[in-house]
Amino acid sequence: MQVFPVLKRLTLGAIVMSLVAGILPASTALAQSGDKIVVAHRGASGYLPEHSLPAKAMAYAMGADYIEQDVVMTRDDQLIVIHDITLDRTTDVAERFPGRAREDGLHYAVDFTLDEILSLHVTEGFTVENGQKRQLYPERFPMETSIFRVHTLAQEIELVQGLNRSTGRDVGIYPEIKSPAFHLAEGKDLGRAVIKVLKEYGYTQKSDKVFVQTFEFDELKRLHDEILPEAGIDLNLVQLVDGGDENAWMQTEDGIAEIARYADGLGPEKSMIVDRRSPPGAPIISPLVGYAHANGLQVHPYTFRLDPGQLPGYADSFEQMLEIFYFQADVDGVFTDFPDRAVNFLRGR
Ligand code: G3P
Ligand code: CA
Repeated sequence: MQVFPVLKRLTLGAIVMSLVAGILPASTALAQSGDKIVVAHRGASGYLPEHSLPAKAMAYAMGADYIEQDVVMTRDDQLIVIHDITLDRTTDVAERFPGRAREDGLHYAVDFTLDEILSLHVTEGFTVENGQKRQLYPERFPMETSIFRVHTLAQEIELVQGLNRSTGRDVGIYPEIKSPAFHLAEGKDLGRAVIKVLKEYGYTQKSDKVFVQTFEFDELKRLHDEILPEAGIDLNLVQLVDGGDENAWMQTEDGIAEIARYADGLGPEKSMIVDRRSPPGAPIISPLVGYAHANGLQVHPYTFRLDPGQLPGYADSFEQMLEIFYFQADVDGVFTDFPDRAVNFLRGR
């Protein structure tokens, strides 16, 4: 689909290793059972540090249908793939750049150049307690490593498109515009910049394999009414929904109809679909998916994890949770840190 000049500058050893190590399926048919999809949440982030390129290559090799990118802007207006607008949870920025935090003690990506950010080491997420780093998911990839880096949105698209060419598959991308109001307040139009990059890489119509997601309804409307028409392209848009009181309207029948004026999909936190207090074996399913489907919206809830403590009490296994969501609640896809498990589940149906 495109040329790959940026990718040439990357160190690809670790990525290639993840593809050829022999622990991954050599043949990676798509996950779909019917039209249901698997979205690799921040890559195969249950196995490798989130949003590292190796985690994206691993997710691809595991057969994910879409690979997610959370996108943030740097001081010099470059687009990087990272979940937080701050660098503290997943990099060594605090050690590398003392004195560069804001008043809240955090280091914001918009205050750093791309070159500065590319010099950081990326690890699993952590907090600092009594001066010591505590890994948030202790069973995941070890913290003691310096092999992972931040990368740009363009680099990740080139990885996915390159793999699409070399495998013959058509895996999609699923970029999220992170905190667009924050970026606008910083003088940075993140939404417009993301759409520009997508267009440059050939994503121009709804049949292309991309969903553009955001939590902010104002940004969804801006994308639909201004940014996409001005770019002369038309892409699938997804409204994310969290549990905040200010967004309670998004879970109502009228709210869903309003969202459907602008969006093609809905990305709710999964407890909005199945009550997390449901008794074992008796999931209490909300009408949300029904409202969404009645308005032509696909539904892709987040986030499906199998780390200790992450499985809701109503399911006795990760696969039973998937069964409940995919086939009882009838969602169209899931965001998961463990794409291999969801791919294998759908293949078995
Ligand atoms: O974007 C959907 C999913 O990623 C959940 O949100 O907070 O992980 O970006 P978050
Ligand atoms: Ca996201």
